[in-house]
Amino acid sequence: MKKTLAEHADRFSEAAAAYDDDHSEEYEACASLVIDRAAPNRTDTVLDLGTGTGAIALQLAADAERVVGRDISEGMMEQAREKAADAGLDNVSFEYGEFRDPEYDGPAHVVTSNFALHHLSDAEKHEAIETIAALDGGGTPSRSDDVGPRRVVLGDVMFFDEPDPEEPFFDPEVDDPATVGTLVDSFTSVGYAVTQLDRVHDQVGVITAERVVSGGRET
Ligand SMILES: C[S@@+](CC[C@H](N)C(=O)[O-])C[C@H]1O[C@@H](n2cnc3c(N)ncnc32)[C@H](O)[C@@H]1O
Repeated sequence: MKKTLAEHADRFSEAAAAYDDDHSEEYEACASLVIDRAAPNRTDTVLDLGTGTGAIALQLAADAERVVGRDISEGMMEQAREKAADAGLDNVSFEYGEFRDPEYDGPAHVVTSNFALHHLSDAEKHEAIETIAALDGGGTPSRSDDVGPRRVVLGDVMFFDEPDPEEPFFDPEVDDPATVGTLVDSFTSVGYAVTQLDRVHDQVGVITAERVVSGGRET
């Protein structure tokens, strides 16, 4: 991470009030794909990491039983809570949690994250993906390693090609995006298969990863 957690949190809290006002086309396309690919069931709990002002969490609340948002920025989550209250949503909550320690020990059938993981170094991203895979997936495990969320959907800044330094999708001072290959390897190494890869832009994509279960994949 190129800044401390506290520095990232302060930076986002300062920008929180205006965060929703100005997004790129690519951000909008990425967020929309994350929502589509997450496709939770009515009985699912969704954990949204780096939830920010709730762009993903609030949309998924209509389809899932419960949505749990986690972020390090209180200012961003304050916006998310206000939006939830305005929309009359009572099945979504927002509390402090970090990618590598989400401070959540309930079931997470589906995990989502949009435009947030790129703040971590590649080694930290791998730790975050290991942490996600070790969460309680809410099922009845048939083997001791059948435990994690059934689906993880990661939309983010990620490099499909050699990054063009002139592109606006990341700020080298604060962001540290990975290559798509590095992210796919991390998911594979913790027992997930990448079942869909959406390329929004050379530097923006959505990875959908499903937990591999011996004898077949859970649906
Ligand atoms: C660009 S915003 C994206 C917010 C939201 N997911 C969206 O799609 O609009 C990035 C968010 O990641 C959060 N964040 C940064 N580092 C984090 C970390 N290590 N753990 C959890 N959240 C983090 C920031 O506080 C911020 O709210």
